[in-house]
Amino acid sequence: MNNAALFESVRLGPYTLKNRIVLPPLTRSRSSQPGNVPNDWMVEYYSQRAGAGFMVTEGTQIEPRGQGYAWTPGIHSQAQIAGWRAVTAAVHARGGVIFSSYGMSGGSRTARCSRAVRRRSRRRRSAPTRSASSSRPHRAKACSPRQANPRR
Ligand SMILES: Cc1cc2nc3c(=O)[nH]c(=O)nc-3n(C[C@H](O)[C@H](O)[C@H](O)COP(=O)(O)O)c2cc1C
Repeated sequence: MNNAALFESVRLGPYTLKNRIVLPPLTRSRSSQPGNVPNDWMVEYYSQRAGAGFMVTEGTQIEPRGQGYAWTPGIHSQAQIAGWRAVTAAVHARGGVIFSSYGMSGGSRTARCSRAVRRRSRRRRSAPTRSASSSRPHRAKACSPRQANPRR
């Protein structure tokens, strides 16, 4: 197989990429605790891959409620921003291009909450009799972070 094209330079907006190889976003859950802070381990991980045309970071929460998985790095505290600066400085020193990928895991919570709400509605529909007060249309209860994500 001729894969020479993979190693050809290409323009991407303002960037001239060394090649056409991309590191996709991959959750690694390696941030330092407490605080979900990018650390030397992550500096090493991204530095090792800086030869790619460009890299996309692992999903990074922009605020605490956006965190979907344990130990994913955030980018909302000063310590986290400093940690990411160390990552990007190391990548740039190797001539790499890196884009941050912001994650907001609210969608997965909504899906879980929706399933819970649908189950509750089905139970209500199948109830044999209803008093006047319980026959009001069912209103979805807000899902608490603990209900939606028991790991937190
Ligand atoms: C372990 C693992 C972690 C991943 N983490 C993220 C992530 O943090 N953000 C994201 O957008 N995609 C994530 N993905 C999806 C990958 O980016 C995706 O699998 C990759 O781009 C290859 O695409 P494909 O699975 O459609 O072949 C993850 C995939 C795996 C296997």
